[in-house]
Amino acid sequence: MFVVFPDTSAVADYVSATLVNTIKSKPDAVLGAATGGTMEPIYACFIDKVRQQQLDVSRLTFFNLDEYVGLGVDHSQSYAAYMREHLFRHLSFNAARLYLPDGQAKSLEEHCRDYSARMQQHGGTDLQLLGVGSNGHIGFNEPGTAFDSRCHVVELSERTRIDNSRFFAEDEIVPASAITMGMQDIMDAREVLLVATGKNKAPILARYFESEVTEAIPFTILKKHPRVKIILDEAAASLLPARVFQRAAAA
Ligand code: F6R
Repeated sequence: MFVVFPDTSAVADYVSATLVNTIKSKPDAVLGAATGGTMEPIYACFIDKVRQQQLDVSRLTFFNLDEYVGLGVDHSQSYAAYMREHLFRHLSFNAARLYLPDGQAKSLEEHCRDYSARMQQHGGTDLQLLGVGSNGHIGFNEPGTAFDSRCHVVELSERTRIDNSRFFAEDEIVPASAITMGMQDIMDAREVLLVATGKNKAPILARYFESEVTEAIPFTILKKHPRVKIILDEAAASLLPARVFQRAAAA
């Protein structure tokens, strides 16, 4: 289901309210977290709501989608640093319940197996937040990734490295590989919210709508998920036929 909001702040308001409702109904919920530009206003809005409503977040568990291979927690562009900066340092989470793939693990393969196993021990996520790449990737599952994959190491596509170079300084090189939750780890979620904002996401949203379920456009797998919402702003929805989406006001 596509739900379209007037702008990014209305999107952030709605998605953060959904997170808050999840916590209220299940204070020990397991949440799947994404990084990237799309999530920044959402986390900011979530922090405000948690503070205003004085919610207890200490029983929540987080599993992050992905991490660059080779970047440690102190590298400013690691996703560990992103999560610390945009979410974790602002609220009283239990650090022992915040899981991120370790881009510097000694054996990446073993680490991936453990990460996926740990997610499964938790019964998968209650709510998985996703952004989408301009090539349709979710997590770092690039086009062609097997739908039955679990957490694994991926070579990043040229498209993704170019898209993400905007976060890196001019003299920094975007890593060539990353660890990502697999497609099955994502599909184990009981509920999925995929969020896309801005006009550069409009073409891939249109392809999603027109396409059958195919590994060539990874996020088409979501057409098979029983509980998924695709949350868009007007710009991201601009190439979709108006009859297929529902317009909404802020939450
Ligand atoms: C990040 C992630 C990626 C991003 C996607 C969109 O953890 O999993 O799939 O969600 O690349 O990134 P932005 O939001 O920067 O356009």
